[in-house]
Amino acid sequence: MAEVVIVRDADEAGEIAADLIEKLVRGTPDAVLGLATGSTPLTTWTALGKRGLDFSRVRGFALDEYVGLEQGHPQSYRSVIDREVVGPLRLTAELVRVPGDSGPIETAGDDYEAAIAAAGGIDLQVLGIGRTGHIGFNEPSSSFGSLTRVKTLTKQTRADNARFFDSIDDVPTHCITQGLGTILRARHLVLLAFGEAKAQIIAGALEGPLTASLPASVVQLHPRVTVIVDEPAASDLAFADYYRYAWEHRLPWEKV
Ligand code: F6R
Repeated sequence: MAEVVIVRDADEAGEIAADLIEKLVRGTPDAVLGLATGSTPLTTWTALGKRGLDFSRVRGFALDEYVGLEQGHPQSYRSVIDREVVGPLRLTAELVRVPGDSGPIETAGDDYEAAIAAAGGIDLQVLGIGRTGHIGFNEPSSSFGSLTRVKTLTKQTRADNARFFDSIDDVPTHCITQGLGTILRARHLVLLAFGEAKAQIIAGALEGPLTASLPASVVQLHPRVTVIVDEPAASDLAFADYYRYAWEHRLPWEKV
């Protein structure tokens, strides 16, 4: 079972996720981070940026990227990562990869897997969750064994992400994303979710059946998962009281 931490709000969640990343980077200055984009991880990056840590040797692998946006498009995940993560954390831009950033798109998935392997694997993968249950852009029906590849976005995800574009027609139809199998190989998963709109999908992912229809349920197979949710996102969790009790009664060595 994942460790589930129920917090007041996204700011508190960002501090806890930042604690986990700080501990990793203090012990391993060239740690490998898996980077999510979207709204959810913003408080984590903000909290980390204030801690004065040296991230110059940290390596990063973004979870996903749109296919079909021109280079430098402000909503490409390369641009978003540069703006929201590389800048505030003072990462070394050359050490941060985004799927599809080299070579032809047909072979970009295999190249990305090889680059992750060459880096020694991802130490800590930050994840958000979409309302379809996707992590990365692994939409429903994604194989639990899938690796980095091109996927078609669902209409729901395109509608959800239309807020970042002038119109829904401008949201790309395709993406390249780490697979569920790629995500499972990371050594520690930190999954964040905020707001009532994520409550049902979080409950399904953590407490429902393991199913490709809800791709994030794959986290139930991972040996080390920290889920950090605010009260509204936790509102459908059947075992919420147990999660609170377990967090309050952490043993000294379990605390960051
Ligand atoms: C982003 C990603 C997606 C988002 C998810 C939630 O790199 O892989 O899975 O984490 O769509 O998006 P937000 O955080 O905007 O609600």
